[in-house]
Amino acid sequence: MARTQNDAKRLVGQTVADMITAGMVLGLGTGSTAAMAIKALGERISREGLEVKGIPTSFASERLARENGIPLTTLDEHPAVDLAFDGADEFDPGLALIKGRGAAHTREKIVAAQARSFVVLVDESKRVSRLGERMPLPVEVVPMAVAPVMTVLRKLGGDPVLRMGVKKDGPVVTDQGLWILDAAFDHGMGDLDAVNMTLLQTPGVLDHGLFLDMATTVLVGRDDGTVERLDRR
Ligand code: 5RP
Repeated sequence: MARTQNDAKRLVGQTVADMITAGMVLGLGTGSTAAMAIKALGERISREGLEVKGIPTSFASERLARENGIPLTTLDEHPAVDLAFDGADEFDPGLALIKGRGAAHTREKIVAAQARSFVVLVDESKRVSRLGERMPLPVEVVPMAVAPVMTVLRKLGGDPVLRMGVKKDGPVVTDQGLWILDAAFDHGMGDLDAVNMTLLQTPGVLDHGLFLDMATTVLVGRDDGTVERLDRR
């Protein structure tokens, strides 16, 4: 039977759900691939009575976790996360990521930063040689800072646009009540550290979708039904 991208997402979702052991505090990522892992975890909880707690990274993953019977907690109650899992929009050979297609990258980064192990779930379509090759870099901004942040992004070589809602007039509003600029980089981003630091130092930027030195493991669901495991050295 022909394998689809959905099959690959399901495979890596199941793989990370199988890595989870009793007592773990988990970061629950956002997006269609993380959703597969949340559902697979929910099945283990109902089948085996596995006891874990999850910290959701968005309203979307919170709702899905509740629907799937995953007990929830917060970083206030559990500041140390054993394992966080999440999807990504691109990953490069050094396991740097672009995230934020779902506008959840700020909370995703907060939770991943507290995790002993950050497992990224992708299919082959997310592999690039240079970040920014295919996907724009999302930047979460305070609405009044849109124009100055666009100027900074253009100086960095990006071509920013304000992300607009679907089935909603006007800009996308994030879970924090802020807006998203998506910056396309024609031939990918050059100096990732410079982009990272410049954006973090720009007034009005809450956070951006570059995840540098964060992924400990990337699980790639392949078309042949196998999972490639890449570990950060
Ligand atoms: C949401 C994200 C997602 O994890 C990323 O966009 C991947 O999503 P999907 O698994 O649906 O391709 O960063 O902000």
